[in-house]
Amino acid sequence: MFKFIDLFAGIGGIRLAFQELGGECVFSSEWDSKAQDVYEKNFGERPYGDITKIHEKDIPDHDILLAGFPCQPFSLAGVSKKNALGVKHGFEDETQGTLFFDIKRIIKEKRPKAFLLENVKNLKSHDNGKTFKVIMRTLERELGYRVYTKVIDAKGVLPQHRERIYIVGFKKNIEFQFPTLPTKGPVLNDILEKEVEEKYTLSDKLWNYLQSYAQKHKEKGNGFGFGLADPSSYSRTLSARYYKDGSEILISQGENKNPRRLTPRECAKLQGFPDSFKIADSDWAAYKQLGNSVAVPVVKKIAQKMLHALKEERHNPNYYRGLLVDENYLNEVINRIDFYKDFYIKIISSDDFKASLTRSGSITISNDAWHLFFQTPGIIGESKEKCIKIYWEQLEELTHSKVKWNGNKKNLNYKLTHIGKNIPYFSEEYCGDIVVLIKVNEEEFIGYTVKGENLFTLLNQNSVLPNNSESKELMVSNLRH
Ligand SMILES: C[S@@+](CC[C@H](N)C(=O)[O-])C[C@H]1O[C@@H](n2cnc3c(N)ncnc32)[C@H](O)[C@@H]1O
Repeated sequence: MFKFIDLFAGIGGIRLAFQELGGECVFSSEWDSKAQDVYEKNFGERPYGDITKIHEKDIPDHDILLAGFPCQPFSLAGVSKKNALGVKHGFEDETQGTLFFDIKRIIKEKRPKAFLLENVKNLKSHDNGKTFKVIMRTLERELGYRVYTKVIDAKGVLPQHRERIYIVGFKKNIEFQFPTLPTKGPVLNDILEKEVEEKYTLSDKLWNYLQSYAQKHKEKGNGFGFGLADPSSYSRTLSARYYKDGSEILISQGENKNPRRLTPRECAKLQGFPDSFKIADSDWAAYKQLGNSVAVPVVKKIAQKMLHALKEERHNPNYYRGLLVDENYLNEVINRIDFYKDFYIKIISSDDFKASLTRSGSITISNDAWHLFFQTPGIIGESKEKCIKIYWEQLEELTHSKVKWNGNKKNLNYKLTHIGKNIPYFSEEYCGDIVVLIKVNEEEFIGYTVKGENLFTLLNQNSVLPNNSESKELMVSNLRH
C-alpha cells in the first residue's frame, strides 16, 4: 500500500490509475467547482481548492506526488538577470509565481519517494525551451531528484492520438523505464455507440461553416479545419475546447446526414475511463473536463513501472551528481581538452570541502597552475584576483567566478571562488570527484565534473597530461592503488 496526493486533480484521471493499483489518496486539490463535483461523485471526497493558498506543511505525508499541472511561462522572477552569454547567473527562484512553484515547494517540504507530472507535449518547446529547462533544473539540481521524461502517444492503447509529456522523478537514484506501448491499438469503432441522440449531429449551419472554413484554409495551403475521424483508426487529440464545435473529432453518418460529434461518454472512453466512471451532467462541462484529463491506461502503465522501480530500487550507475552522464561523456571532455590544450584538473579534497563551509564555495588551485589564470606567478606580499567565466557544460550554467592569489596570509595559495551555489561540488560526498577546467581564452573556461574513478583514463591520454606537478602526483598515487 502506498500513499499519494493528487494535485491539479481535475476529475481524477491520474488518481484513478494509481488508486486501481492499490494506492491511497491522502490529499487532493482542484479549484474548479464543476470538476470538484465530478471528483466527489466518483471518489467520495471533495478536493481542496486553490493550491497556491495551501501551506505545504498542511499537506499529509505521502509516497508519490501526482500533478497534471497547467503550463505557464516562467517570466516573473529573476528572468531579466541574464548575463552576456544569455545564460542565467546563479540560481534565483525562477519558478516563483507559477503553479510549478507550488509543486516544487510541496516536493521540497514533503520529499516524496517519487512524483509523476503530466503536461502537453510542447512543454518542451514552450518559451524556446526555457520553461522545460527551468523545470528540469529545479527538479534535478535544486530538489535533487532523479528525473526521467518521455513523450508518449496514447494511440497504442486508446483510439486517440494524444501525445503528452510525462515527467517521473525519484528521490533516490534508481533506474526507471517508461512503458513501451504497442504500435497498434484499438480503433474508434470499438468505442463508438450504436445509437446516438440527434443533438450530437451537427446543424446544417455549423457543418456548412466548418466546410467553407476548411475550404478557405485549403486554398491557402493550410491543413483542414476539421477532422472527420476514420472509424477504423484513431482520432485526433481530444482537447478542452471540444465543447465549442467538436470540429477536431467528427464522426461521419453517411452521405445523407451531417456528421456528428462524440458523445461525452464516448469522450470518456476515448480517454480510457471505465463505464462505471460518473461524468458531469452537462455536456459542456463533461467535454471540457474530459478534454483536460488524461489517457488513464497510459498513466496506469507508467504507474506500474514506477511502483516496480520503487520496489526494485536498482541503482542507476549512469546518473551522476544530478546529471545523466552517458558513455560518450568522457570522450567529450577529452576531445575538448585536445582541442583547447590548456586545462586544469582538480580533485575535490576534504580541504576544499572544509573551506567551502567557512567561505562560500572556494577550492584551492595548485600553485603550479598560475599560468592558466595570471600572466605572472603570485609573490609574497601581493594579492591579486581575476574574474573568469566558467561555462559548466553539463549544467548549462555560466558562473562569474574569481581566481585569487593570496600572498598576505600564511597559507599562500590560489583559490577559485564564486563558483556558484548551483554547482554542487561542495559537500562531503563529492570529495574525490574531479573538476576539469578547460581554458578557452584569457577569461573563459569550460567546466566539467568527472567521477573520481575516471582520473586514470583522463590522465592516461597522452595529449591530456597537464604540465603541473599536482596532476603528476595524482597520476602516481592513482597508479599505486
Ligand atoms: C490539465 S488539468 C488536469 C486534469 C487532471 N489530470 C484530470 O485527470 O482530470 C489542470 C487542472 O488544474 C486546475 N487548476 C489550475 N489552477 C489551479 C489552482 N491554483 N489550484 C487548484 N487547481 C488548479 C484546473 O482547474 C484544471 O482542472
